[in-house]
Amino acid sequence: MRTKIVAGNWKMNKNLEETEALLGELAAKLPDTSAEVIVAPTFVSLSSAVQQLSQSVIQVAAQNMHFAENGAYTGEISADMLLAIDVDTVIIGHSERRSLFGENDELLAKKVKSALDKNMKVIFCFGEELDDRKSDNHFKVVETQLKNALFDLTASAWSQIVLAYEPVWAIGTGETASPEQAQEMHALIRKTIAEAFNAEIAGNVTILYGGSVKPNNAKEIFSKPDVDGGLIGGASLKCDDFIEIVKAI
Ligand code: PGA
Repeated sequence: MRTKIVAGNWKMNKNLEETEALLGELAAKLPDTSAEVIVAPTFVSLSSAVQQLSQSVIQVAAQNMHFAENGAYTGEISADMLLAIDVDTVIIGHSERRSLFGENDELLAKKVKSALDKNMKVIFCFGEELDDRKSDNHFKVVETQLKNALFDLTASAWSQIVLAYEPVWAIGTGETASPEQAQEMHALIRKTIAEAFNAEIAGNVTILYGGSVKPNNAKEIFSKPDVDGGLIGGASLKCDDFIEIVKAI
C-alpha cells in the first residue's frame, strides 16, 4: 500500500506568530487519519514549528534547500541546517522556484542528490505549462523533467522520493486539472518509472497532485487510483479548508 500524503505548501505566507496560530488550530482540529500530513512554513518558522508539533503527527517540511553543504551562498540553507532542527523533508523543484528563480533540471538534480545523500525525504515537484498542454507536449515535458532530475538515482533512493505532479496552469489559478487529467498523467508517470526502473518502484512511489486543490474538489481528485494525495497551496493557509482536504483523503 502506498503512503497517502496531504502536504501544505505555505509559500511566502505567515510570519512566526501567524504560523504558531495556524499550527495550533490545525493540531487541535486534525482528524484521525492514516495519511501523512505535512506542512511547509517559511524557513524562519521551521524550528518553532517542529517544537510546537512535537506531540502532533503533523510533520514539518522545508520549501527549498541548496545543494552545497555550506559556504559562500548568501541567502541559502543547507540540508545539514534543516536536519539540525529536525526537518528531514524538503520540497524541491516547485514551479515557482523554476520560473521565478531560474532553477533548471540540472540544478534540481543536484539538490535532489544532496538531500538524498543526507537521507532526507524529497517531495519533488514538476509539471507542464499551459503552452505545453495546448501543443500536446505535456507528456513529453513531464517525462523529460522526471528523467533529467531523477533517473540517475539508484533504485533504493526511490523510497525517499515523493512526487508532486503540478500542472503550472493550475497553480494558484483556481483552475484545476480534471480528475481524469490528473489520473491520466499520474498513470503515465508510473509507467515511465516502471520502464526506467521497475514495476515495484513505480507501484510504491507516492504521487501527489497539486494545483488549486480545494475542499470541494479534493475528494474526486483523490479518488483516482494513481493519485495518492495532494500538495496544497492556497487552501493550506486556511485551517478549515486544509482539514477538509485531509478528511477527503
Ligand atoms: P495552489 O498551489 O493549491 O494554491 O494552486 C499549489 C502549489 O503551488 O503547490
